[in-house]
Amino acid sequence: MGNIARLSDDLASKIAAGEVIERPASIVKELMENSVDAGAGSISVELGNGGIDYIRVRDDGDGILSEDMGLAVQRHATSKLRSELELYEIETLGFRGEALYSIGVVSELEIVTRHRTEAMGTRLGIRGGTVTDRSAVAHDRGTSVTVSSLFFNTPARKKFLGSAQAEYRACLDVVDRFIFGHSDIGIRLVHNSRESFTIQPAPVDMRAVLRIDQGLKDRLYGVAYDNGILRVDGFVSDPDYTTNSSRFVYLFVNKRYVIDKSLVYTITGAYSTSLGRGRYPVAIMNLSIPRHFVDVNVNPTKTAVKFSDKAMVYDALGRAVRDTIDRRSVAYSAPDPGTDRDVYRGETKEASAAYAARVQRPDVRDPGHSTMGRATAGRSVHPSPQQDLVRKGEFSSLNVHAQLDATYIIASSPDGMVLIDQHAMHERLLFEGLVRDSRTHRRQSQLLIAPQELFLNESRMSTLAEMQGALDTIGYGLTIGHDSVIVNAVPPGTVFTPLSFIELLDSVKNDDSSHTDLAGDQRTDPLYRIMADVACKSAVRAGDLLSVEKIKALFMQLDELGIPLSCPHGRPFVLVLSLAEIQKSFHRR
Ligand SMILES: Nc1ncnc2c1ncn2[C@@H]1O[C@H](COP(=O)(O)OP(=O)(O)OP(=O)(O)O)[C@@H](O)[C@H]1O
Ligand SMILES: [Mg+2]
Repeated sequence: MGNIARLSDDLASKIAAGEVIERPASIVKELMENSVDAGAGSISVELGNGGIDYIRVRDDGDGILSEDMGLAVQRHATSKLRSELELYEIETLGFRGEALYSIGVVSELEIVTRHRTEAMGTRLGIRGGTVTDRSAVAHDRGTSVTVSSLFFNTPARKKFLGSAQAEYRACLDVVDRFIFGHSDIGIRLVHNSRESFTIQPAPVDMRAVLRIDQGLKDRLYGVAYDNGILRVDGFVSDPDYTTNSSRFVYLFVNKRYVIDKSLVYTITGAYSTSLGRGRYPVAIMNLSIPRHFVDVNVNPTKTAVKFSDKAMVYDALGRAVRDTIDRRSVAYSAPDPGTDRDVYRGETKEASAAYAARVQRPDVRDPGHSTMGRATAGRSVHPSPQQDLVRKGEFSSLNVHAQLDATYIIASSPDGMVLIDQHAMHERLLFEGLVRDSRTHRRQSQLLIAPQELFLNESRMSTLAEMQGALDTIGYGLTIGHDSVIVNAVPPGTVFTPLSFIELLDSVKNDDSSHTDLAGDQRTDPLYRIMADVACKSAVRAGDLLSVEKIKALFMQLDELGIPLSCPHGRPFVLVLSLAEIQKSFHRR
């Protein structure tokens, strides 16, 4: 008897249904999941034109019995689920019996396989859901699935595919998830007949260093926590090694990659105030939990899960991360009281950090919601950027009082109170400096004391090649190699970290910043866009403590440049409450 059987209609109706084949990356995901479920020790993924031309996934797993071949491509036919009871104890990544069927319907599909117990393999060809041929063939143990002519019969869906580069990137993201979720499997990726990489079975942290950033080597901390029901293991990065999106937070539940905002929020929350607002660490985390505590039949893409006891899961994950960060803090903290005084006059950095911790932070999920906005909304005062109060050339005459929430600078002039968003201000400052230098062809550059070598994946290497000229113009000194770049020099005044450079490459590539305040022709000029991105990625951030001296120096530069009062992305950075408005609020006028 074969292994694959059709689900009863009743059971099939209980499976989260829906279309999951949207683009090559969805196919790569489904095929790689099948290889994992088949017990593969190594998986090879080959893509033509980002997967648009063809996708081939080959594994050395158990293979498919010859008698099962017909069923494998039928709807609701699976070897992984038999009864409703099993639905609550799913041990495999797949369980719906739908993936091969839905791929076969919209493409040309070829499956060649040999089951470990059989001497001869089988080849099955499908086009648009119809079997076109079937034969006995010789094949190594395991399975190769090739998908081509994707969406040949659904032109509307084909139209929605992105460029080959965009589709390739999406596939790469999927492959990376498998690299982090299945450290015991060797994974090889080939694109347009050229090997992109082969990654041997290796500990997850090593894989992270190879795939995300070499600089993570000393910045990842092992997480290991067990409360008797739930085990959490993985890695989190140092609190000052962060990025502006959660894209490097990889979450797995029983080795299944999941997308879960609450879990991400739990992780960032566990860092408390050591993580700047809107910042995310690098984290690779697997939660191991008995199967009956988690429902994986939530949506057809199988990337969402429901926990029967959410609170317990959040609590355990939070503790796991917090313990790790605290332990690491103990090992690293070397307080040096008396130095590095900041705007909380007379207090040391530690004291003000403690203060910052007491100041309630606005919800990080809503970074645009400032404390000031809330306070004024309630009292119907309407502060507006009154440019005449902070005219060009007047920033350096402001009195600097304090930082609010380590994000806003509180200053005053005789005419009123001035609140400044430190990140947006610095961003504008850097941007204008870069623009001025590029206009006057005064290329300025600041040598790094220690040049930094970054190993980059192929998609970032290709972005780098495209951007090389622009980066050089604005002051980057780069030596580009085969799979790495040495950064020797950076534009003056910018802060260099490996991750911020990677973020820069990614954001230019995805063009994910809005740049609404760039003048029309600037918006389409890649050089300006790169300058705006460099400014954004290199500016001081919300959450950074700044000394009075540093703030004053920035104010002087603002005056020198005489610049617009908004960041290059269009956000205003100055909020003025005039004395008159203040007096009105206190009924003095
Ligand atoms: N690479 C493979 N190696 C061995 N068996 C495979 C492989 N790919 C598919 N199969 C067999 O074909 C069946 C159908 O695969 P398919 O991906 O369509 O469904 P599934 O994995 O059971 O569920 P899901 O739709 O959730 O992925 C699987 O249950 C499995 O028995
Ligand atoms: Mg499957």
